[in-house]
Amino acid sequence: MTEYKLALVGFGGVNRALAQLIAERNESWKSELGFTLKIVGVTDLFLGSVIRREGLDAGLLASLPAVKGALAQVPGGDGEAFNESVIKHCGADIVVEATFTNPVDGEPATSFCRWALEGGKHVVTTNKGPIALHGAELKELARRNNVAFEYEGSVMSGTPVIRLAKQSLAGSSMVGFEGILNGTSNFVLTRMEGGLGFAEAVSEAQAQGYAEADPTADVEGHDVRLKVVILANELLDAKLTVSDVSCSGISSLSLDDIESARRDGARWKLIGAATRHADGSVSASVGPRLLNNDHPLAGISGATNAVSFTTGLLGAVTVSGPGAGRTETAFALLSDIINLHQSVAHN
Ligand code: HSE
Repeated sequence: MTEYKLALVGFGGVNRALAQLIAERNESWKSELGFTLKIVGVTDLFLGSVIRREGLDAGLLASLPAVKGALAQVPGGDGEAFNESVIKHCGADIVVEATFTNPVDGEPATSFCRWALEGGKHVVTTNKGPIALHGAELKELARRNNVAFEYEGSVMSGTPVIRLAKQSLAGSSMVGFEGILNGTSNFVLTRMEGGLGFAEAVSEAQAQGYAEADPTADVEGHDVRLKVVILANELLDAKLTVSDVSCSGISSLSLDDIESARRDGARWKLIGAATRHADGSVSASVGPRLLNNDHPLAGISGATNAVSFTTGLLGAVTVSGPGAGRTETAFALLSDIINLHQSVAHN
């Protein structure tokens, strides 16, 4: 039986949910997936760090209080975050990077990924910053070190759109996509349709764990812009940087705008889109769009995400599913590990 040793980097909601899944399901994964997971190191800027090569108690980790230095409560743990030691020296096969997204330079997550890849460790991450800002470099680093670098959760959390599009829609002549790619803003718009004010709706999204540490990134479209860059570069063979994508958010929409759309049989949605043109260039944008109720994305409500791929052979292929949430995003990490396991098995 294969056992993968994990270093969890960042122990907020997502990696904590992964620890919980491991505590509950490791046994059943033996027969279901053909491997088990063992956590051998955890590090978090706020909670501290711990290394235990024989394996840590996943249930105990998942139940730790979210207070400063809490990892000192675990036997062998420390209230300080020794990120570099955990990533480089805890004996992990896979570094599971789930720290906050920094949309400006992708740090410190990008350095965490570099350390791991340079050290010959596989990396799975949900973090948009390293992929959108340094994806090509990190993929090349992974290739040179003969390890996997997987990031399915960076775009639609647990809904596997990257692999679906890259693998199952390969050969379909994809020329673009448009999507609802931010759970928080779609949740906010849906709650506003129910009459709730913008600020209250954002607070609810934060309480549900959908929103970024700074929800401005959600409602102003910056989060979607990163996802559009990732998808366009991955699927349309683009080489976009963040500044290539025009971007506006939903904070200027009022309850009156939303009500007047409803009267006209339409809904406001925050749409991220990209198109490949005949000359091979790719243009991309993020902004609020008024969709008639019969548009395939108009009926997507709450924190649900959806993306509609435009293909030459099949027309539009639309996928919807969870795009945010702790357990949903933890599932994306698991699906990356499953993919890694299957690739290793086939090599
Ligand atoms: N804050 C993001 C959202 C989380 O609301 O969709 C997933 O990237």
